[in-house]
Amino acid sequence: MKKSKSFPILLVLVLLIVMYVSVVNARKSYERKNRAQSHHQQKGRSKGRKYAPDPDHFSSSAPAPAPSYGSYEPHKPIFDILSFGAKGDGVSDDSKAFLAAWKAACKAPGATVKLPSELKFLIKPITLQGPCMPHLTLQIDGTVIALPSPSAWSKSNLLQWINFKLLHDFTIQGTGTVDGQGSGWWDLSQTQYCTQKRSKHVPDIKPTALRFYASYNVTVRDIRIINSPLCHLKFDNSGLVKVNNITISSPENSPNTDGIHLQNTQDVEIQHSNIGCGDDCVSIQTGCSNIHVHHITCGPGHGISLGSLGKDKSLACVSNVIVENINIENALSGVRIKTWQGGLGSVRNVSFSSIQVSNVQTPIIIDQYYCDKKACKNHTQAVAISQVKYSQITGTYSVQPVHLACSDSVPCTDVNLVDIQLVRSLKSQGFRQPLCWNSYGESQAPLVPSSINCLQRGSLFKRTARSHEQYNTC
Ligand SMILES: *[C@@H]1O[C@H](CO)[C@@H](O)[C@H](O)[C@H]1NC(C)=O
Ligand SMILES: *[C@@H]1O[C@H](CO)[C@@H](O)[C@H](O)[C@H]1NC(C)=O
Ligand SMILES: *[C@@H]1O[C@H](CO)[C@@H](O)[C@H](O)[C@H]1NC(C)=O
Ligand SMILES: *[C@@H]1O[C@H](CO)[C@@H](O)[C@H](O)[C@H]1NC(C)=O
Repeated sequence: MKKSKSFPILLVLVLLIVMYVSVVNARKSYERKNRAQSHHQQKGRSKGRKYAPDPDHFSSSAPAPAPSYGSYEPHKPIFDILSFGAKGDGVSDDSKAFLAAWKAACKAPGATVKLPSELKFLIKPITLQGPCMPHLTLQIDGTVIALPSPSAWSKSNLLQWINFKLLHDFTIQGTGTVDGQGSGWWDLSQTQYCTQKRSKHVPDIKPTALRFYASYNVTVRDIRIINSPLCHLKFDNSGLVKVNNITISSPENSPNTDGIHLQNTQDVEIQHSNIGCGDDCVSIQTGCSNIHVHHITCGPGHGISLGSLGKDKSLACVSNVIVENINIENALSGVRIKTWQGGLGSVRNVSFSSIQVSNVQTPIIIDQYYCDKKACKNHTQAVAISQVKYSQITGTYSVQPVHLACSDSVPCTDVNLVDIQLVRSLKSQGFRQPLCWNSYGESQAPLVPSSINCLQRGSLFKRTARSHEQYNTC
């Protein structure tokens, strides 16, 4: 009896528990749905805030969509400089807008800073600094111009115009132009600048146009860089650099306007580009290794150059350089290694191949007596040069086909000349015989003219050992 009495009570209790649990579950699931919906709405709202997305809204789990310019995608936000107050009229100072767009983009992963086409942005000397979120892109479709008058530049900021610093995974691209408006600076370099320099109060500095400092995995492609006051594109203390499909242009008589300058930078590929300027097409300085330069057209200018190295008895180290498939036209030199007397360190494992020259004064140069004045002091110490191979170097020269002037005390070793065919150009004025001074190595036919078969042979055991000592300081 007792049993049958308590049974309905138990049943009611169980029913109550089941009902409670199902109600709680339903509410939970309703809340979940609601949260998802409001998240969706927030995402939708952020679509309207095109130029100031909140990085918190980027979910990290979803795969990033493919980049597409023009239409906004939450994972590839575009920061148009115009939305940050730039005028783009070539007269107003757009530096602040550029910096503001940069700072906003820097915080968003995969962002693009955009300088739109058909507009001209006047930008004062500026530092665009990282670290930023990865995969930042600077899209230059318009024209960026520097202050045209040197006197308008701040004297404390003459090293470079646009300074890219501490960046990882960064790309500059676009169909636009970066114009350093350097003509005012070039004129200064002649008489006026030199006499002013003597007063010691006028700085002996001109700005590089684009400079990368302490950056890793950076790409520069497609853009044009023109009329820099000094060097056009410089990489300093950087690594994993790619330059592709760019154009560099300044007049033949613009002084010291190097095309691309590398210093203390490793793992570099420079390809498919067109460089014409007043100085070196590509200049490779101390601290560079694993450098690959290929499919480049150079000229006018001074050709591709390692150095100058070892100035003021400094230590210079350059190794593992490949330069191939290059066209050099109307240039002072073709491929060149230049060192100052008195330097330390080494240049080794360098290959120049498939170099087509046309009306180049001296296509092949090693100059260990480099000097920028009338005469420099003689020293016995020198940057040791070894394992340098020249192959398939063909075309026309105007003065001297080969000039290998190695140090009296530290000869060049393991130099190879293979398949060199050079004839005098029609514009040739003043011919000089090929020179091989203190240069040891092997030659392989065809060699035209035959007089370039001038390397000294021999094992040079003692001297090689000595130059190996110098490698160790690198
Ligand atoms: C270099 O950067 C590019 C573009 O941001 C990226 O796709 C690539 O994975 C990076 N590579 C390395 C080795 O970091
Ligand atoms: C090279 O750059 C130009 C813009 O300057 C662009 O139109 C062209 O498509 C690029 N070529 C390649 C192969 O990327
Ligand atoms: C010479 O340099 C090339 C290219 O950088 C590299 O692949 C090769 O291993 C180097 N050889 C030596 C002996 O260092
Ligand atoms: C340096 O040495 C060269 C010969 O090797 C000589 O002609 C020249 O006069 C010397 N220069 C000086 C400044 O001593």
